[in-house]
Amino acid sequence: MYKEYSRFYDDVYEGKRLDELAGLWRDDRDFWLNQAKEAGSPILEIACGSGRLTIPIAELGLIVHGIDNSQEMLALLKEKVARMEVNPENLTYELSSMSGDDEYPSGFNLAFVSTSALQYLHIAEDQEKAFAKAYGSLKSGGKFITDVFNPNPEFITGWGEKILMKQSQSLSDPDTEIDWYCVPISYDGQTKILNMPNLFVFRRQDEQTELSMDVGYYCYSESELKELFLKSDFKDIKVFGGYNKEDFTQISSRIIMMGTK
Ligand SMILES: C[S@@+](CC[C@H](N)C(=O)[O-])C[C@H]1O[C@@H](n2cnc3c(N)ncnc32)[C@H](O)[C@@H]1O
Repeated sequence: MYKEYSRFYDDVYEGKRLDELAGLWRDDRDFWLNQAKEAGSPILEIACGSGRLTIPIAELGLIVHGIDNSQEMLALLKEKVARMEVNPENLTYELSSMSGDDEYPSGFNLAFVSTSALQYLHIAEDQEKAFAKAYGSLKSGGKFITDVFNPNPEFITGWGEKILMKQSQSLSDPDTEIDWYCVPISYDGQTKILNMPNLFVFRRQDEQTELSMDVGYYCYSESELKELFLKSDFKDIKVFGGYNKEDFTQISSRIIMMGTK
């Protein structure tokens, strides 16, 4: 899925924001950097992608290891690290899957999965494996944090056809503007998968091109996510409804959950 998307991932996520939509999209960067600072080294970022968060964490002088199952996204990370003043010993990464049978390195103070990436795991077996692997990666007292969207019925059905998530100016080509839409097509109550392709519209002068990427997001309820934390033996489970550590309510936009080993 990220093979194609990797080409413009940074443009969409890190390009200059033209418009910020209250509530739907909130900047998570400060939240994660604060969690990283609080936990201290070493840190494991699961599904680190092109290093949108991994790099700033390393730039804080913290030691961070990223894993991702997309070669293309890791190639972007590699390129960026080469261009930046990050001590290569502070930032390491490897190709690995959240739900693969391999184990992560261990001894981390913090392991985290941001940006709804946990929702790409569609079946219980893979989800449980991801939690068990995260648990195994931590030292005693270490924290695991996940961030998924809150699938309240309004979220799934009330958005109409297209939801504008973000408009940005391309990093690589300042003359190009990108509109990023999510298009919730269907929700299957049995599999709990929300079929919500991402649609990207690239505008450059009079030209417009579109690219759609199929994405199915598994919709965790708060209680189901908590169950996964408990099953893997995490203690002291806390939940927030957003990146300002708002209390979680049924209408929160996010479910940010954390547990301690
Ligand atoms: C939305 S991006 C987030 C990247 C990065 N964490 C960020 O905040 O920009 C989701 C990432 O999850 C990765 N991913 C998807 N499924 C995965 C899996 N099973 N194991 C590891 N990474 C996975 C994708 O390759 C992609 O880089």
